[in-house]
Amino acid sequence: MVSKAGRWWRSAVVYQVYIRSFADSSGDGVGDIAGLRSRLPYLAGLGIDALWINPWYPSPMRDGGYDVADLRGIDPSFGTLLEAEAMIREAHGLGLRVLLDLVPNHVSDQHAWFREALAAGRAGSGSSARARFLFRDGRGPAGAEPPNDWTSNFGGSAWTRVTDPDGRPEQWYLHLFAPEQPDLDWTNREVQDEFAAVMRFWFDLGVDGFRIDVAHGLAKAEGLPDLGETEWPPGADGRLGHPHWDRDEVHAIYRSWRALADEYDDPRVFVGEAWVHDSERLARYVRSDELHTAFNFDFLLAPWDAEPMRRSIETTLRTHEAVGAAPTWVLSNHDTVREVSRYARPQGVRRLLKLDDVLALPADRPAGLRRARAAALLMLALPGGAYIYQGEELGLPEVEDLPDEALRDPVWALSGHAERGRDGCRVPIPWSGPAPPFGFSPVAADAAPWLPQPASWRELTVEAQTGADGSTLELYRRALAVRREHPALGDGHLTWLCMPAGALAFVRDPGFGCIVNFSAADSVPIPPDAAPLLASGSLTQDRRVPQDTAVWLTLDQSTAKRA
Ligand code: NOJ
Repeated sequence: MVSKAGRWWRSAVVYQVYIRSFADSSGDGVGDIAGLRSRLPYLAGLGIDALWINPWYPSPMRDGGYDVADLRGIDPSFGTLLEAEAMIREAHGLGLRVLLDLVPNHVSDQHAWFREALAAGRAGSGSSARARFLFRDGRGPAGAEPPNDWTSNFGGSAWTRVTDPDGRPEQWYLHLFAPEQPDLDWTNREVQDEFAAVMRFWFDLGVDGFRIDVAHGLAKAEGLPDLGETEWPPGADGRLGHPHWDRDEVHAIYRSWRALADEYDDPRVFVGEAWVHDSERLARYVRSDELHTAFNFDFLLAPWDAEPMRRSIETTLRTHEAVGAAPTWVLSNHDTVREVSRYARPQGVRRLLKLDDVLALPADRPAGLRRARAAALLMLALPGGAYIYQGEELGLPEVEDLPDEALRDPVWALSGHAERGRDGCRVPIPWSGPAPPFGFSPVAADAAPWLPQPASWRELTVEAQTGADGSTLELYRRALAVRREHPALGDGHLTWLCMPAGALAFVRDPGFGCIVNFSAADSVPIPPDAAPLLASGSLTQDRRVPQDTAVWLTLDQSTAKRA
């Protein structure tokens, strides 16, 4: 069933399983491997090619599992290594590849290496145990000031000072994320060797590849200089040279990983999570001897508007083609506002990334859903691969009214309750039934879902949407089925057609067309020699595409020629 074998990743639709929120079989309110296994037939039926599973390793869960305590294990709340192996086998049996999440920038403060580093104490400040991390003496009198001015992504300083067993303050360590996520030093040989061994461990277990967490953050400037006025993303002058984001030194790491992945007969693949400031910089991560693919966040961040979307698509295609890589398209993930809610907001702003800023804007919810559905057809028609974040196929909105006491994202506490964080897009999936837990947990569960589901989701369950005319789930199923069969879709090229302002249209060989009307006030006519194949919403009586609607078309030769 795996489509377009060979370099399959160039066309693959990958489904993101945020395992804590996917399906709970044990009844503790947290998703697990057994739950995922029970839902594999659903995923295969949806028509995807691969899964990417968010971190499932042993973890204190200070950052949803991105604080890994053991890189070769499974957290007991998710199951066992044996279950993981069985899951991989079963997925393969259904024609689905499996990607895991590799977190190389940092580990948990409970990882054996970090405990060893702490145990080395002040006397061990030059020890090999500390050299795996970025321990430094503080500045100022008695070293009481952090070693530099870097800030954590989650708020506050990027440095935490450790104390000796007698409670006396000693060195500081770097953490670009939570204090419980100490950064590794990637110039350290042991760190490099350990990650190579970890990759082999999972590859040998049958895993098909890795999503690379914070792929743009592993290299730090020598001497860890102050950030000072350095802006991120770079200011108007485009000046590069940030001391810890998107440094050129990361590429040597990915070249060595690519060599390792290529040793396998069925080559293992990587997708980089690299938040870089433009498509040219992103393309550097997917040069032919580096990562196979990278998430295209530029597309995710583009407002729902024809011109910015077209620019994002064109630039992506051009920069990826220049290095021979296939683009990937993505609308959301476990760190962003779900697109139904994002597109419900006024779309003027280019960088709608700060979650609270997005959600503070007034919402037109029906428009959000219409646009998200149209965006799905646009995304799945573009050349390259695509990512679907669990629940996207159900048209789930962001849960915007989680009570304060339910919030689990470390961002909430670390920002001093200034930012609510990312829990609103992580609420457990509604599978069936009229009330929470909507089949997420078994009927006799001991605990409620770890984040509360809104009662209104009764209309959005998989059960409610299955077979329902016009449901978002059926739209995705149909689109994925067409994509799987249609020779024009997946990897390849597109040709733009002329359209009125506010609309985009392109054709793909052989015989496929896509029209998206973002905002053209007059609906857009479908060419007479084209037949609608699938539409994200109703077309007008006279076969025109209204606003916030996308349509896929079957073309006969003459439309294709006009392109
Ligand atoms: C990116 C992950 O997607 C996010 O969830 C996590 O908090 C950070 N990296 C740190 O690992």
